Amino acid sequence: MQTQNNADGPAQTGLRMLYPSMSDVPLSGLYLCEDLRALIPASGVYTYSNFISSLDGRIAVSRPDAPGGLGVPEQTANARDWRLLLELAAPADAIIVSGRYMRELAHGTAQAEPPLGNDAPPDLRKFRARAGLPPQPALVILSRSLDLPPDVIRRLAGRRVIVATIAEATPSAVASLRQGNLDVILAGSGAVDGMRLTSALAERGIQLAYSIAGPEVLHTLLHARVLQRLYLTTVARLLAGEEYATLVHGKRLVPPFDFALSALYLDHQGPDGVDQLMQVYDSVPRGDARDVVPPGT
Ligand SMILES: NC(=O)c1ccc[n+]([C@@H]2O[C@H](COP(=O)([O-])OP(=O)(O)OC[C@H]3O[C@@H](n4cnc5c(N)ncnc54)[C@H](OP(=O)(O)O)[C@@H]3O)[C@@H](O)[C@H]2O)c1
Repeated sequence: MQTQNNADGPAQTGLRMLYPSMSDVPLSGLYLCEDLRALIPASGVYTYSNFISSLDGRIAVSRPDAPGGLGVPEQTANARDWRLLLELAAPADAIIVSGRYMRELAHGTAQAEPPLGNDAPPDLRKFRARAGLPPQPALVILSRSLDLPPDVIRRLAGRRVIVATIAEATPSAVASLRQGNLDVILAGSGAVDGMRLTSALAERGIQLAYSIAGPEVLHTLLHARVLQRLYLTTVARLLAGEEYATLVHGKRLVPPFDFALSALYLDHQGPDGVDQLMQVYDSVPRGDARDVVPPGT
């Protein structure tokens, strides 16, 4: 997840669309104007994810004080990208996060509360109200350990929370979450299975599921071939460092997971004025790599 700071401020100044056509476009509304609901597949759930990365592929670097020892590099996080993260949360029925993120919230090292909280930009709150959506998307927490700090779970009161875990999860931990009125889904053995997860979400009326989690959750979605779209911001900076995470971590994807570029934007106002590229990729079935419709067309 990217950092949150002054998400409203720089949103009015623009960026340059480079693909599929060339034009100047405002940052504010860039992703909000995409009608993701129109893209919901027959399977019932449209799943999308978003990352910010350095040019050398770092989405997280060493952060010894954080649970898991990693954090989003402060050299890539920036308010303009954060605004887009929030715009992607605006239409979502549910936000997918990891158990580790819940521990970060408890530890005070999370960079933001789950979107869209009380600090959400007013235009995004209005967007949800106009669309007839509840003020906050549901939260779907993937965890096999179920080490979910009770005070953080209590902080989420008022929000719909679904915990997706594994068949081997400790029964008393499952029972305790259910007693707290949380919806607990057992969706796999050893790991939550992406297909079972999205089926369970569809059964619960969740049609737009937005993952802001990291490399293992992305692998879960890719392995099950249930991810439809990837939003990727690449900051034109090299960070190096020996402990880091990249976009996806897990067993080799065979066959590879293919995307087609749907949109590309150049922003000259990344962190410290460094350029960043906002990319929108749509998943494509193998052998069908060019048969996609760019967003907004
Ligand atoms: N730059 C970016 O855009 C970006 C985006 C997202 C995250 N990050 C960073 O990347 C680092 C890792 O983030 P993350 O924790 O969200 O990463 P993650 O690797 O996706 O999630 C790890 C945790 O999620 C749970 N989990 C994941 N897949 C699961 C499955 N299939 N079944 C059951 N449980 C599963 C487990 O929780 P339990 O341990 O509770 O069992 C696991 O420890 C953090 O530093 C974060 O800030 C960066």
